[in-house]
Amino acid sequence: MSNVVVVDHPFIKHKLTLMRRKDTSTVNFRTLLREISMLLAYEALRDVKVTMQTIETPITTMEAPVIDGKKLVLIAILRAGQGILDGMLQIVPNARVGHVGLYRDAKTLNAVEYYYKVPAELSDRDVILCDPMLATGNSACAAIERVKANKPGSLKFVCLLACPEGIATLTAAHPDVTIYTAAIDERLNEHGYIVPGLGDAGDRLFGTR
Ligand code: URA
Repeated sequence: MSNVVVVDHPFIKHKLTLMRRKDTSTVNFRTLLREISMLLAYEALRDVKVTMQTIETPITTMEAPVIDGKKLVLIAILRAGQGILDGMLQIVPNARVGHVGLYRDAKTLNAVEYYYKVPAELSDRDVILCDPMLATGNSACAAIERVKANKPGSLKFVCLLACPEGIATLTAAHPDVTIYTAAIDERLNEHGYIVPGLGDAGDRLFGTR
């Protein structure tokens, strides 16, 4: 799986274990997702472009690298993608932000779009699409197709948990999109949930159940 990067640092593993526990509170779940997302951002942004700037240190003048955050676009798949977005924005506060609203049809598990708003010009920007759970892969594929129509400079997908089924669907449809995840779980169950997983990421993030 050459286009899947598992960011399995011990801090991420530990925090993910806390998130999986069913008695973890909403506030802790939210904090942990933000913290892990900051760590995922380090890996997903490893090849981000830098430009050189002339700066003055207390000693001398030098050419030093700076990131142009405005070239980056973070797009959250609503609603749980907002949790990853919040963490990544701590690392790149200048990034532009987009949202794709998708819900899963309870019967077919297909993605249905209800909202789409992204920065107008994506062609010279690097885009990172965020959604915590890569489950069936249907939402991810629908969002990627939509974003690709805007011809982004590059496109990556960042999630918290993936499963083999979701990875297979996404990589078959979009082999050019690298997936960054904290872990790959065993499988998908008959209700479209990742096993062992952590339950419904949106409900746990927003305390809606
Ligand atoms: N979405 C979730 O929130 N959890 C899963 O396990 C699968 C999809």
